[in-house]
Amino acid sequence: MAKRRVDRRVAPSPDIRQGRADASVRANQYSESAASDRKLIAIYVFFFIVLPAVSVFVYVTRYGPNTNTKPRQPTQNLVKTDLDYQEILRENSRVSKNESHRHYTYPVLAYITPWNSKGYDIAKRFTNKFTHLSPVWYDLKSQGSGLVMEGRHNADQGWISELRKNGDALVLPRVVLEAYPKELLGKKNLREKAIDIIVSECKEMQYDGIVLESWSRWAAYGILHDSQMRNKVNVVLAWAYSYGANFITASVILCGHILSNQPPSLFAFFIILHKIDQERAIPFYIGVCPQNLGSEAVQFIKQLGHALHSVNSGRSNKQPLQLFYVIGPPHSEKLQVHDFGPEDLQSLGDAVDGFSLMTYDFSGPQNPGPNAPLPWIQFVLQVLLGSSGKGGVTPAHKIFLGLNFYGNDFRLSEGSGGGAITGRDYLKLLEKYEPKLQWEKNSGEHFFLYVDDDHISHAVFYPSLTSISMRLEEARLRGTGISIWEIGQGLDYFMDLL
Ligand SMILES: *[C@@H]1O[C@H](CO)[C@@H](O)[C@H](O)[C@H]1NC(C)=O
Repeated sequence: MAKRRVDRRVAPSPDIRQGRADASVRANQYSESAASDRKLIAIYVFFFIVLPAVSVFVYVTRYGPNTNTKPRQPTQNLVKTDLDYQEILRENSRVSKNESHRHYTYPVLAYITPWNSKGYDIAKRFTNKFTHLSPVWYDLKSQGSGLVMEGRHNADQGWISELRKNGDALVLPRVVLEAYPKELLGKKNLREKAIDIIVSECKEMQYDGIVLESWSRWAAYGILHDSQMRNKVNVVLAWAYSYGANFITASVILCGHILSNQPPSLFAFFIILHKIDQERAIPFYIGVCPQNLGSEAVQFIKQLGHALHSVNSGRSNKQPLQLFYVIGPPHSEKLQVHDFGPEDLQSLGDAVDGFSLMTYDFSGPQNPGPNAPLPWIQFVLQVLLGSSGKGGVTPAHKIFLGLNFYGNDFRLSEGSGGGAITGRDYLKLLEKYEPKLQWEKNSGEHFFLYVDDDHISHAVFYPSLTSISMRLEEARLRGTGISIWEIGQGLDYFMDLL
């Protein structure tokens, strides 16, 4: 039934257009002859009223909401830079009939938030467009001297079972590690407790794993201030152990290494020097060995990953539970020590199944502009993955390039301000201000300017089919997946691109 309707609507279109062209030629011949019999009037009516009407009807229905005009998608003609606001208003809710068809083979993670509940429906309707769905439900918090996982009340089991009926997308709720970092990372029993709580919640609620967010908080608390310590100190310790009798001295030097932030090679040199000439060895550094929270932080993620991997999902697929980890883009041109860098990527590669890379919020109210300029996205990928030519170890497929499905409405006059807007807000602005959309070539984003009722000028950046397409293509070229923040804020026709 459905298929027949598609055939009927789509197939006649080219023929009819051609027919109309022929018609006007023939109609002209008729008018020259100036004949006036009934037949001619009938032909006129047919060619100038019926045929155009049918053409219009076919045109409208062809781009209507319920058609799949493979290989041409209804949205395809809107992937362009000279976009009219009316086109967006007209087309934004239209999608291809086949809501399962995917255009890319790479994995797609989508976030869903309880405060934009439209995302729940999008996830149900387009389940097969996604490989991973992350409802934003949990916070792991400090409570007294212990920990508590908050957010079970958000969990919607009915929704999850519908998703599972619809497809294979994994459900990995997001957990934010709110717990006071120095407490959590500093105490072994708390770290173990945290891992236990997370794994138990997954088992009990039949999740496929979690998405963990903690890095930005740890960085804010100064836990990650030494990238070298994050990854290397454990190796150095093992090496020091092998010195047996010299262990005490080695420990003193190790503390010195930690305090002075000397590279491990220099540290090794000191130990060798000490071994050669024990009598006259000078205690190079004296100090109390501080606890290395940076190393514990990375260690914690690894332990959590391995704990999750050791449990199989309760679902029929019996796959190990997965750990996704949220990472931010570098803060500046040069990688800062607390930035998540290539070494961290390498070091966590086994423990983490996917890194959700937040390549958005490049601009803010203080510096209005595009949300995620394409050259900046390319730069971030370059920093994390190195030049593509190197090949080999870089786990590009574990990176999930972040795409914003929200936009920003910035105030440009009367002080800075403004902030995030959803697709619905965007449509309202288009309706009200009928703006001229502009293409910002350097960043690869659409935007428009308007002046509000209080005479304050604004700049609005919101993703377009064009800007999203470019980023999806970038992910394909770099061999990454994508992550979307978040589907409740987007417009329906974005789904057509996935
Ligand atoms: C929809 O797309 C999926 C995935 O590409 C495909 O397997 C399925 O056959 C399509 N369904 C129809 C009705 O075309």
